[in-house]
Amino acid sequence: MTETTTTTTASIPLAPGALPLLGHALPLLRDPLAFIRSLAGYPRMVRVRLGPTSAVLICDPTLTRHIFVNDRTFDKGGPIYDRIREVIGDGLSTCPYPLHRRQRRLCQPSFHPQRLHGYAAVFGRASHATAGSWHDGQVLDVTREMMTLTTQATMETMFSGSLPADTLRRALADTNTVVSAFFRRMMTPALLRRLPTPAKRRYDQARARLFATITEIVAARRADPTDHADLLSALVAAVDVESRDHEQRLSDAELADQALTFFLGGMETTAITLAWALHLMATHPEIQHALQAETDTVLAGALPGPEHLPRLDLATRVVTETLRLYPPAWMMTRTVAQEAELDGVRLRRGDTLVLSPYLIHRRPDLYADPDRFDPDRWRGTSPDRTGYVPFGAGARKCIGDQFALTEAILALTAVAARWELSPVGEEPFRPKVETSLSSRGLRLRLRRRTETSGTDAPPVATSQPLPVPSTPGPGPDACPVAH
Ligand code: HEM
Repeated sequence: MTETTTTTTASIPLAPGALPLLGHALPLLRDPLAFIRSLAGYPRMVRVRLGPTSAVLICDPTLTRHIFVNDRTFDKGGPIYDRIREVIGDGLSTCPYPLHRRQRRLCQPSFHPQRLHGYAAVFGRASHATAGSWHDGQVLDVTREMMTLTTQATMETMFSGSLPADTLRRALADTNTVVSAFFRRMMTPALLRRLPTPAKRRYDQARARLFATITEIVAARRADPTDHADLLSALVAAVDVESRDHEQRLSDAELADQALTFFLGGMETTAITLAWALHLMATHPEIQHALQAETDTVLAGALPGPEHLPRLDLATRVVTETLRLYPPAWMMTRTVAQEAELDGVRLRRGDTLVLSPYLIHRRPDLYADPDRFDPDRWRGTSPDRTGYVPFGAGARKCIGDQFALTEAILALTAVAARWELSPVGEEPFRPKVETSLSSRGLRLRLRRRTETSGTDAPPVATSQPLPVPSTPGPGPDACPVAH
């Protein structure tokens, strides 16, 4: 990446439309995706200003990958991460480089392929049960329903469904409060954040209680170290033999941070991906029918499970293409940790870089007709690791990528086995751009399929009923995990 001549960031072109005091705040607030897409024509990098601060948006896929993989120089940090750490501590997704490798080594066994096989059985059961609870003619609040499904699946894979229902209910209600307040708090200046308002009190209480609940769960599992074949057992058992200066096991506080990180990160992103996939099925009936045909042949009346995955070719391509068009983590930031050179430009310590899978995935030089939903572009080919980055790249790549893909493919299959989906209303549905590329508010109509062999399996109760919080939260879009 090093060039012979270096210049400063001032030499990077400024995106058009900056106003004197506001910078690009207006187009970013009005339609951030259109603004980002309008910058895809910049081959390498472009400067974006938000008020007095400016950031460098990376448009080129090779530069993006360079930043992802050089995580010592381009680290997670800055004011946004400081606030995220307020909620989930120094967990795997938020910790800076010096803490990361040890944490990653300790968390990796939780996602070992052998464990994934067991989790896939849970996903299949949970998806089948959720799809079986709907009724003919129902208009589905899709994102909410997918959130319920992924919460159920995450709970079971993390805690093997062994928690008392009231503990789960409390954890979910508090998660909802924390998550709903978090996005607002992230946008509020520090001075205002400290005002003792009722909202702040509710947030503080919920956050403290959530930590107490997770700590309680961790303590109970420490007292009973048998392998429950779930994520928490793997975390409790993990030993990092390479640690010289740190403890070789996760402390109780670290365990709680990681549990919370997986809990929040695992539910929301996968729910959004599934909601978008269902939206794309409803708006592309010919692909939906092909998916139903695949489902009927592969499942042949059985519950979806790990044994079906190798033959769910179209379902896999649909999920791949969904993540290209609607990557939940549409934008990520990095802070320059030490003076560096990038593509001939000298970066100073503390400079902010913005990476956008959404922008990369919509580049016409990488994808023909990039806005078109076309699962066939993945026929017989694997995604390219530079041009396709819904899970990031390098050492900080999503640890739950296979977990999420498995869950999404099996859940999509479970829905296709029973239901025909169609859009509600004429208006095209648009993403809500928040911390994630949210599908909040998406509604689809269900019609029970008649000719199917995929619905023979009787509804299966999951190991315990899902304690969905009674108060509707902000929608699942405001997850504070730092994607
Ligand atoms: C479709 C679903 C998902 C998407 C699109 C997604 C996306 C991402 C992305 C882009 C990153 C990298 C962030 C960065 O480099 O700044 C990431 C990291 C991470 N994700 Fe996911 N994720 C998904 C599901 C999950 C699941 C299911 C879990 C856990 C159960 C999870 C846990 C994490 C963690 C812990 C990290 C931090 C990894 C590290 O820094 O070593 N994610 N995710």
